[in-house]
Amino acid sequence: MIKIRDYLKSIRFSLGYAFEFVPKQTLIIAIMFVITATLPYGSSYVLGKLVSAIVAGVKNIEYQNIWYLLALYSLINIAPTIIGNIRLYVIRHWRLKMRSETEYAVYKRREEIDIATYEDPKFQDLNQRAFRNGVGPLSDLAFGQFNLLFDVSRITIGTALAVHFNPLVYVVVVITAIPGFIIDTKFATKSWSIWSKDSPGQRRVADLREHIVWRSFLIETKLFQSGQKLLTWMKKIVDDFNIVQLKTEKSRVFQTSIGDILAFVGFTTGLFLVVKQVIDGQGQVGSIIYMLGVLSTVQSSITSLLTNISSQYEDHLISKDIMEVIKTPAVIIQPKNPKILNLSSAPEIIMENVSFKYPNSGEWILRNINLTFKAGDNIGLVGNNGAGKTTLVKLLCRIYDPTEGRILINGIDMREVLTKEWWSYLAVMLQDYATYDFVTKEAIGIGRPDRSINLTRVIESARTSEAHAFIEEWEEKYDQQLGVEFGGKEPSKGQKQKLSIAKVLYRDGLVMILDEPTASVDAESEAKIFDSIENLPEGKTAILISHDFSTISACDKIFVLEEGKLIEEGSHKELMRNKNVYAGLYNLQAARFKK
Ligand SMILES: Nc1ncnc2c1ncn2[C@@H]1O[C@H](COP(=O)(O)OP(=O)(O)OP(=O)(O)O)[C@@H](O)[C@H]1O
Ligand SMILES: [Mg+2]
Repeated sequence: MIKIRDYLKSIRFSLGYAFEFVPKQTLIIAIMFVITATLPYGSSYVLGKLVSAIVAGVKNIEYQNIWYLLALYSLINIAPTIIGNIRLYVIRHWRLKMRSETEYAVYKRREEIDIATYEDPKFQDLNQRAFRNGVGPLSDLAFGQFNLLFDVSRITIGTALAVHFNPLVYVVVVITAIPGFIIDTKFATKSWSIWSKDSPGQRRVADLREHIVWRSFLIETKLFQSGQKLLTWMKKIVDDFNIVQLKTEKSRVFQTSIGDILAFVGFTTGLFLVVKQVIDGQGQVGSIIYMLGVLSTVQSSITSLLTNISSQYEDHLISKDIMEVIKTPAVIIQPKNPKILNLSSAPEIIMENVSFKYPNSGEWILRNINLTFKAGDNIGLVGNNGAGKTTLVKLLCRIYDPTEGRILINGIDMREVLTKEWWSYLAVMLQDYATYDFVTKEAIGIGRPDRSINLTRVIESARTSEAHAFIEEWEEKYDQQLGVEFGGKEPSKGQKQKLSIAKVLYRDGLVMILDEPTASVDAESEAKIFDSIENLPEGKTAILISHDFSTISACDKIFVLEEGKLIEEGSHKELMRNKNVYAGLYNLQAARFKK
């Protein structure tokens, strides 16, 4: 059953947006709905009066006595059409603005959700459920309140009129309409829980779809000839879902029909009671028409109120989910009284006894790491796949907090500094970096989104990352649109990496972190890029991760990770002298070249 409190909370949430973004229109629409709600009663009343007047003077009718009733009747009946036309415009305006503003507000908040939150499969389910129809359900739910206002106004006025005439009639008509409501609500809940339970299934379908609709995945789907297998899998999930859904729909048809019949019987009984009252001499003939109008309006409004509430049920549940996503608590807690670093050159970074587990795994990924990154050093980080290099970088960037231990920046615990401030000093390129299908200079300039683009610096960064040469060959050069989807150039994988490095260089952070930035870059460019990075101006720290020991060997200090532990550190020379893991790996790579 509907949890009334939750339902009211969602309504308050969605109406909150309506009153924030479109307050004037919301009020106007509400008033129009209330006015339209009163009209059918006026119409029935006047029609009843008209009939009574005609019946009273059936042989000798005085037209001057009824013409004004006729005029009034026409006026009342044309009013909804006129108001309706104006309302249509206001509603369109309301919907457009409400939708775009809500979308903006919701996405703004989503952007703030911590990466760590996304690791939680429960959050993934919630996120998938909440946004499968975008943010539409929020404005639909808010709009639904106009319909409820309309129904409630009709019911209130109708109740007053009907009870005044004959309370028993009213009770009979209302009570018989209730089972239909309960049935409707039951089914709305049921089909929702089918969907909700099936959420991982729905997510799987979305995931499988990507292998068919995503250009880069589709290539592999074709060459592996795996399309049929993926499609069959997708179809099975959807078919299974449909079977359960259809079963529910079948019993829904049956039960709602029973509800409708009951309401009809109630209405007929009510009508009979009215007719009897008139025949018994307690009312004019016109009262039958009047009450017929009142009762049918009340009953249709009750049915419509119930249908409207149950049709809002799904919007309510989705809005509740959206609200939950939006109110997801932060994992990375910002300090209440932040310490200010106010850096103008790279800081010293110390990891003190740092251990780390991913939120949903029991396994230690980093264990008791103690290290110091001296300000201004070029630091190399090496280790086999899965050793924990990227994880260490994520801790440095405070994407996650250490499970144990702490990270100090110039002696201050990173958790006492606002991430906003710390991130402003970083220029990071992770292994899964993002690419932008913008105009080239914008795709590089996004590195410093807070300033307008400085083309000289864009070009300078592109030169350092070895991107300048191929950009120059493009017809539009730095104004070249990127991405075939946007009718632009599609850079090669290595070119994409060079563009991305340019973006990181353009950011000009005090601490630059590059996690295997040149995996697809040709050897010649790679050497040049690393040369430039290793000669960064004073006061900047560079942290490089690479499997290529020749590039790493030029770093001031190298750290070697193995299965989450720091096993060696020192300059290339020191490490070679130690003849340990680093020296072994280095010699292994060198030997392969000598073959
Ligand atoms: N989001 C995650 N949730 C749970 N475990 C993770 C997550 N990301 C990485 N891991 C695990 O953490 C370990 C270290 O991964 P990490 O990406 O830090 O390795 P890496 O040294 O960067 O490896 P590579 O050289 O392949 O990039 C791996 O065992 C990996 O399975
Ligand atoms: Mg990695």
